[in-house]
Amino acid sequence: MSETFQRTLITSALPYANGPVHIGHLAGVYIPADIYARYLRLKGEEVLFIGGSDEHGVPIALKAKTEGISPQEIVDRYHRIIKKSFEEFGITFDIYSRTTSKIHHQTASGFFKKLYEKGEFIEKTSKQYYDKEAGQFLADRYITGECPHCNNKHAYGDQCEACGVTLSPLELLNPKSTISGSIPVLEETRHWYLPLDKHEAWLKKWILEDHKEWKSNVYGQCKSWLDTGLQPRAVSRDLDWGIPVPVEGGEGKVLYVWFDAPIGYISNTIEHSPDDWERWWKDSSTRLIHFIGKDNIVFHCIVFPAMLKADGTYILPENVPANEFLNLEGEKISTSRNWAVWLHEYLEDFPGKQDVLRYVLTANAPETKDNDFTWKDFQARNNNELVAVFGNFVNRAMVLVHKYFEGKIPERGELSDDYDCTALNELKCIKQNLEDYLNQFRFRDALKEAMNLARTGNKYLADTEPWKLAKTDIGRTATILNIAMQITVNLAIAFEPFLPFSSEKLKRIIDKKDLKWNGLGSIDLLEAGHELNQSELLFEKIEDEAIEKQIQKLRRDGGCPSPINH
Ligand code: 2FM
Ligand code: ZN
Repeated sequence: MSETFQRTLITSALPYANGPVHIGHLAGVYIPADIYARYLRLKGEEVLFIGGSDEHGVPIALKAKTEGISPQEIVDRYHRIIKKSFEEFGITFDIYSRTTSKIHHQTASGFFKKLYEKGEFIEKTSKQYYDKEAGQFLADRYITGECPHCNNKHAYGDQCEACGVTLSPLELLNPKSTISGSIPVLEETRHWYLPLDKHEAWLKKWILEDHKEWKSNVYGQCKSWLDTGLQPRAVSRDLDWGIPVPVEGGEGKVLYVWFDAPIGYISNTIEHSPDDWERWWKDSSTRLIHFIGKDNIVFHCIVFPAMLKADGTYILPENVPANEFLNLEGEKISTSRNWAVWLHEYLEDFPGKQDVLRYVLTANAPETKDNDFTWKDFQARNNNELVAVFGNFVNRAMVLVHKYFEGKIPERGELSDDYDCTALNELKCIKQNLEDYLNQFRFRDALKEAMNLARTGNKYLADTEPWKLAKTDIGRTATILNIAMQITVNLAIAFEPFLPFSSEKLKRIIDKKDLKWNGLGSIDLLEAGHELNQSELLFEKIEDEAIEKQIQKLRRDGGCPSPINH
């Protein structure tokens, strides 16, 4: 971390509480954010990791209507499920709260009011569809009609799902309200807009000149928005679910969900640290990092920074390491088509195998381009990497120490051959290599580096064959196994940000708890005579049958709505 920063505030996109979370969420946002938070904490740095559910917006209101229950009931249901999934997968939020909390309503409302009073908004009147029967303005999704491009009769006011075109409600032929079924009429409505055009100049300098180090997918998307030219964006909506617009003329209107959601990062910080939250948000020695998916880039790199700047008292993000998307078996993950691997269902089928999924999703993370998750790849990475490389090495080293030295770390004598030097040289570089990658948010490469250390360990045992030497040269056997165990304990540190459950287990069987990141690379972490616990397997093979079952389940259920969505 650069010297000017003293602490890191990590935020991860607040998922909409209108469905459970799936592997795409985990791979794109929450695993990378958690790896990063764990890494910094292990280094002894001050970190605050913020999460929470995004509980406003039209899709939630719409879902509630369809189910005939209140939006609050919808978000209560999914907030609970989502929060539990994150806990089960070891995502170490310092707080996981929600945007229906009282403190969030106050914070977002206060934020809006301040900008309003400072004259940071413009007000505009436009014509929008109004449902006379229901007595309300219609959000784009509440209007259906005929697509002017392909004549699909069931296009939505914002998009035609048949031909994929983006629409405005005014383009729909024969529009109909989905609330009452009546024909909507155009009426004037007044809204508040954030004039992004006025922020364009400083945003251009801040991103395009001062943050050239941002990931190319993020930088590229920002550049294209900025080159096209920014327009004022409405920050209020005619809707009855959300945070009421707290100024004159705001009756019947709420803050646009994308206005209140990022403020959720601030409210959750206030909820966590009511007395010193400003240290996290208003002190230039705090480094703010937003972990998000690519569909959120414009909001986190342009709109939210403009909001923060308009307030004038906040810091801006230092980096926004957004990921691309994860596909599933060659197709886009789709909640509505149930083409997804839901986290709660994964754990029912693979109990205790959180780290296997964490491993596969990191090794195959969509860091630079969209990537594909396949069950075959999941199996191969488990069997050929976790079991055959990491697990196998640790188990061999442990078993040999138990067999020849009664489970006690043997004394290391003189280092004698090239094998020792090669292995120890690799070990010496691990800390620097891992840090270089982690500091650049290159988690795939960092994980590969950790796995390479296990490979080094395996090769070292294969080359030196201590089991053959034990009868003739117990001194040399001792040295080899001492080195093998020093590599093993290093693996517990190196893998900790990525595979926290396995790292815990490994520390337990080595009987070594107080390991620090700074110890990484040392060959003196385990003293001679230190007694190991009984060895246990870190990973187990996944058979074809289990994989076939998952593929069949996907083919069977994919295309039908998920039972949990009802
Ligand atoms: O895309 C989404 O799922 C949004 N709910 C993300 C919000 S991120 C932040 F602004 F809260
Ligand atoms: Zn169409």
